[in-house]
Amino acid sequence: MKIVSVVGARPNFMKIAPFIRAVEAHNQSLAGSGAPGIRHLLVHTGQHYDDNMSRAFFEALDIPEADINLGIGSGSHAEQVGLTMIAFEKVVRQERPDWVVVVGDVNATCACSITAKKEHVRLAHIEAGLRSRDMTMPEEVNRLVTDRLSDLLFTPDRLSGENLRAEGVPEDRIRFVGNIMIDTLEAQREKAAALDVADIVNRNRMGGGGLGAVPDPGQGFSLLTLHRPSNVDDPAILGAIVDFLTNELTRELTLLWTVHPRTEKQLRRFGLWDRVAAARNMVLLTPLGYHELLRLNMDAAMVLTDSGGLQEECCVLGTPCLTLRWNTERPVTLREHGGASVLVGNDVDRIRKTCREMLQRGRTPARPELWDGKTAARIVTALAGD
Ligand code: UD1
Repeated sequence: MKIVSVVGARPNFMKIAPFIRAVEAHNQSLAGSGAPGIRHLLVHTGQHYDDNMSRAFFEALDIPEADINLGIGSGSHAEQVGLTMIAFEKVVRQERPDWVVVVGDVNATCACSITAKKEHVRLAHIEAGLRSRDMTMPEEVNRLVTDRLSDLLFTPDRLSGENLRAEGVPEDRIRFVGNIMIDTLEAQREKAAALDVADIVNRNRMGGGGLGAVPDPGQGFSLLTLHRPSNVDDPAILGAIVDFLTNELTRELTLLWTVHPRTEKQLRRFGLWDRVAAARNMVLLTPLGYHELLRLNMDAAMVLTDSGGLQEECCVLGTPCLTLRWNTERPVTLREHGGASVLVGNDVDRIRKTCREMLQRGRTPARPELWDGKTAARIVTALAGD
């Protein structure tokens, strides 16, 4: 059997690493039996290309170099999706795989799903069934298209399966396998725990970014990531968030802010960069490696984020998490479902009130069903048996 799997952007890399390892384990288990095993090819669309957004993750997570890099790079949605489809079609025509496997919900996921189906190749989606029901999110469009086209839909939780059933997806296509990102978390948490927080901050501090001191061990800090267009593309919204961070949040706690390239670009464009760079008690960090971010999350008193993956990691680590969005496609991570996160959108009053509440709360780790580090093995077993 031949499988082509696809990655494009940062959150894909943590999801493909365990899949590749599980394919290798499957092939090893067949060694000597005469059975053919799985031939696997990895395609990187090149949507993310900076070393600290891509190569660093391949190295840290021991992902073999991609067999093919499509080199798509940045652009509008139509540019990214269109160029990826054109380039990926050539790969599919040449390789004629039995399966194309896509992960997550980025533009690479959607583009390669459409291409695979138009080439009559079976499609499997890892992390299927998530729904924010917010059609202004590009990822929601990507999720709907990908799931509608997929032959096998691997879901991370039971709510995702219910979403798919409600949309009429036949039962035999839905496989509840758990959350593959947690495979990576479990495989890497020891290595992350061995890192030193002060060392991470010193090594990744942006030149001229923030005047905060490195937090002492045991002293609390909050951790921020922000990159959604809904938060960073509107100057009024980004400005209000920056006001809150610089005038209020940093009075109580040191803030470590790992700045996404899109966000840096917008802060500079809206004239906000000098303010954050001069803010007391705030340290601006470059995009961090997998282990570095996980290590900071392990010690953070509180995380503020609009990332999907971080909500899930906070859930398992128990870090109080303010999700800077009005909705989430990952409701199992919410407090009402036993998780660690609260939706606060970008309403500063709500953020302020919830911050206070969250800081009084200790860590409450949660483990949703099948978030057990064995998801990738279940997926490969299902693909090999189909
Ligand atoms: C993409 C995903 C989003 C995911 C995020 C994680 C889509 C629609 N969005 O958003 O779901 O949460 O990745 O990071 O697929 N840039 C660089 N270097 C890079 C990559 C990007 O500087 O290596 C800058 C460019 O200015 C680019 C901007 O970031 O235009 C946005 O990149 P893009 O891939 O379009 O979307 P993200 O915001 O990263």
